[in-house]
Amino acid sequence: MGDDGRTRGLANGLTNYGDPAFSAYLRRSFASSMGYSRDLLARPVVGIAHSASGFNNCHRLVPELIEAVKRGVLAAGALPLDFPTISLGEGFLTPTSLKFRNLMSMDVEEMIRAQPMDAVVLIGGCDKTVPAQVMGAISAGRPAIQLVTGPMATAMHRGERLGACTDCRRFWARFRAGEIDEAEIDRVERRLASTAGTCAVMGTASTMASLVEAMGLMLPMGASIPAVDADRLRLAEATGAAAVALIGSGRPMAELVTQESLENALRVLLAIGGSTNAVLHMAAIAGRAGLELDLRRFNELSETTPVIVDLKPTGTHYMQDLHAAGGLPAVMRELGDLLHLGVPTVTGETLGERLAAADPWVDRTVIRPIDDPIHPKGGLVALFGSLAPKGAVLKRSAADPRLFEHEGRAVVFDGLEDLAARIDDPDLDVTADALLVLKNAGPTSPAAMPEAGYLPIPKKLARAGVKDMLRLSDARMSGTAYGTIVLHIAPDAAAGGPLALVETGDRISLSVERCRLDLLVEPDELARRRQALPPPPPLPARGHDRLYQEQILQADEGCDFGFLKGS
Ligand code: FES
Repeated sequence: MGDDGRTRGLANGLTNYGDPAFSAYLRRSFASSMGYSRDLLARPVVGIAHSASGFNNCHRLVPELIEAVKRGVLAAGALPLDFPTISLGEGFLTPTSLKFRNLMSMDVEEMIRAQPMDAVVLIGGCDKTVPAQVMGAISAGRPAIQLVTGPMATAMHRGERLGACTDCRRFWARFRAGEIDEAEIDRVERRLASTAGTCAVMGTASTMASLVEAMGLMLPMGASIPAVDADRLRLAEATGAAAVALIGSGRPMAELVTQESLENALRVLLAIGGSTNAVLHMAAIAGRAGLELDLRRFNELSETTPVIVDLKPTGTHYMQDLHAAGGLPAVMRELGDLLHLGVPTVTGETLGERLAAADPWVDRTVIRPIDDPIHPKGGLVALFGSLAPKGAVLKRSAADPRLFEHEGRAVVFDGLEDLAARIDDPDLDVTADALLVLKNAGPTSPAAMPEAGYLPIPKKLARAGVKDMLRLSDARMSGTAYGTIVLHIAPDAAAGGPLALVETGDRISLSVERCRLDLLVEPDELARRRQALPPPPPLPARGHDRLYQEQILQADEGCDFGFLKGS
């Protein structure tokens, strides 16, 4: 029993056999069979929700992190008990990892709630795992603290630094354009991801780690310490101790996710030129806390938040460079009063106090002064218009400004199979100023919103030297990718959004200045096309596929399941 009168440790949440004393006796007996002393079994419990998996390269060092967390928990006087949850290794799931993010969040939520723990350490890293853990922990209503696996280190290829996965795409584009041969792409393939950890650039994993640090849900510098650095183990140990301090604090994770901490995270997202996927995940996280991510407010923040971090895919450096440059505390110190500095963090101090205590050194080649930014406005912008009534997203910091005000002829692909079949057809009727449009790759499609929005440049144009084109879809894009690519068009085509009505030859206009995306087709013609749309397919017969199809929300609500929203 704690000072606040609550039951603590293994006496919590007894299994129901109709006789509580018997349940407690049985649990103690079974727990004793794991070899713990009576003293340890009487202590408060810190759960460690981890996502190690043979199908997740980014989480290879999770077992070491668990051991370090346990050291910290034990030294601080509690009993650490780890438990596995679903793991989502980005490149190992079909059709796409996003389809399973909500399922993982349910696993995390229910196992935190069903098992006797007083606080929980969440260990994740790869793209969807951290949002899934945060979403689950918010909904579970327990004190929780995040630890991530940390970014990969870079490798060298012919005198050039390589890091997953912006360089993956750069070399693949060169291979498609015939600039490098099979032997070189094979060498590159073996050097792109040469250590444990998450992708080495400001992709989705690094972005989400950064935003979770910005919200104060992990310890300072937690987002950027390289996966293989001994500092990460020390941070894991400190995280275990911090979890013990959380017990009895009355500070569940949900209390730290407020409108103000959400805005702090969005400011940081914009300043670091972070991943478009983060817009989805932050909308879902907000929804779990009973909040809303308003894309129009997001645009207001974007107008007044410059990009100050020079990392791939927006810039030139890697996550390990951001860490050496001062990490997220240095970035947030630069943003200063643009942030809500009075918000509390997981350790009880305010964000302002945390930043004041950080090392004041900063490397200006990686983190620029706010009055000398890389881009004067935020890295992302939301678009609205007749083609995207509920919004779409463009990563302007990774796009070609020459295409920001553009009207052109649509070349439409009906889905991923159609795209694969025709994109490299020498007879495809396409020019460099056309707009490539992909339909039926949104959240309600069978494809479940894959990272397919980075449509390849048609081979015949790539070989003629075309590097970028305006591309539109209801799909997502990897945070490590770049190009003038409009994503997350909502409602998606499979749900009957206006995107479903677009045909090859239509005119579409984009205005980044006005945040507009419009389909320039007469309403009568659109009404005629809507009449001709096929009926939606029947629901899947059973299982998660059926649950997904019944519950999945659109991109503007973070693609959460409808029944999981709310605090
Ligand atoms: Fe796991 Fe990129 S594949 S973070």
